[in-house]
Amino acid sequence: MKKLWGGRFSKDLASETESFTQSIDVDSRMVLHDIWGSEAHAIMLARQEIISQDDLREILKWLERAKEDFEKGRFKLKPELEDVHMNVETYLIEGAGVEFGGKLHTARSRNDQVLVDAKLYIREQILKTEELLCALAEEFIKVAKDYPDAVMPGYTHTQHAQPITLGFWATAYVSMFLRDLRRLKNAYEIVNTNPLGACALAGTSFPIDREFTTWLLGFDSTHEHALDVISSRDFIAETLCALAILSSNLSKLAEEIVYWSTYEFGMIELDDAYALGSSIMPQKKNPCVAELIRARTGRVYGALMDLLTVLKGLPMGYNRDLQEDKPPLWEAFDQIQSALSILTEMIPTTKFKIDRMEELAGANFSTATELANYLVREHGLPFRKCHEIVGSVVGELARKGLTFSDLEETQRLLEERGVVVSIDELKSVLDPRRAVENNRSLGGTSPREVMRMTDSLLDKLRDHEFSIKTRRDGIDRAYRRTRRIVEGVLKGEDLEGIIEELISEEVVAEEG
Ligand code: ARG
Repeated sequence: MKKLWGGRFSKDLASETESFTQSIDVDSRMVLHDIWGSEAHAIMLARQEIISQDDLREILKWLERAKEDFEKGRFKLKPELEDVHMNVETYLIEGAGVEFGGKLHTARSRNDQVLVDAKLYIREQILKTEELLCALAEEFIKVAKDYPDAVMPGYTHTQHAQPITLGFWATAYVSMFLRDLRRLKNAYEIVNTNPLGACALAGTSFPIDREFTTWLLGFDSTHEHALDVISSRDFIAETLCALAILSSNLSKLAEEIVYWSTYEFGMIELDDAYALGSSIMPQKKNPCVAELIRARTGRVYGALMDLLTVLKGLPMGYNRDLQEDKPPLWEAFDQIQSALSILTEMIPTTKFKIDRMEELAGANFSTATELANYLVREHGLPFRKCHEIVGSVVGELARKGLTFSDLEETQRLLEERGVVVSIDELKSVLDPRRAVENNRSLGGTSPREVMRMTDSLLDKLRDHEFSIKTRRDGIDRAYRRTRRIVEGVLKGEDLEGIIEELISEEVVAEEG
């Protein structure tokens, strides 16, 4: 098949070369983005009088048909046409003829074109990921609201540390996810700059208007430096970093789901809809969803390493290596989005076994720190000294196979070490409910702090949700701008007239 770039060549490509170099599977997600970018470019060319209004009408007519065909499943990308850009352009040239269709690629290169397509697609995927993460965070807010004061064991080294509340645990996830959201938003801002008009690497001698396509495509700004933008894929690295860290954070949750659902811990029970059985052991109920989320972290980290390795040592300019930027990012988006969706369904169906949590919260000397604190407060001893006393009481109780619930022995051992405490007082100090109640320091586990933090984290979450909506609206507005121009031009309206009207409407809307 004759290539659009075939002029220089005197023979056909080997079929191996064709299949080795094509990027059809990956590009198939960017067909509509390629068409939007092409429409914006064509409109700009006509406005700058680089092509005529007749050229524009023909080009838009056929790009619209390509879109319609694609939406109806009739426009299939052909691997022999290498990539999405060549497929769309070929469709146009076959439809409109080269005298019209052949003008679209004026003052454009596939190098800036591929960046436009990818950025239009990636910004949508970042927004979608942020939305899914907000939905998951909302589920943790609900858990916090339902259980602000249910006690459970808090762990360090996966050993009983101090009692906390379930609401405290749940809000910790919200607090963590808010940082993931910030990283995603930051990546979005780095992604959302306009590469169009950088052309191959050096700009162009045509009088193009790059700010105009920035407006039409809803980019936040124009990425000015042509050589820099053509060479840049750090916006993909930035996005993958945010996804890799998010995936590390999700693996923490997955791990807790796995061991909290064991017989030994017994702190949660998974809903039957989100657990799997064994082919041989009839009693099994396995936390496979959480295990797979934990394992698939590897794919996301792998994606980041993949991309960073592709980029290492690449000189400035476009290098075909850069085609390998998209597969890892697509993979990471798919993995993260499916994990977020299923977790958001799973969390509200999961049963938190409050009685078991409370039983564990008081066990295994978990209130020893509170006892030491009590001795500091009520007996005026230095903390180090109290730590020593309580440590040796715990050691002795443990050696005898006893616990803090053996109040008389605990009292006796304290007395032996020179501290007199009544049984009633001791009982109350060692109560995990009282221990959490007392941790009222800023950000501590007391139900009062948990309720305060739940409200303030929810406010922050709502702010983030608003920012997602604002960015989405910005994209929709830009898309409608392009639609309006395309439809107007196809109806025979004057291009400049439509643009002036659009601008004045937007000014009025902003002032109102
Ligand atoms: N498929 C290519 C990519 O993803 C498109 C850009 C091709 N540019 C070029 N100069 N061959 O990078």
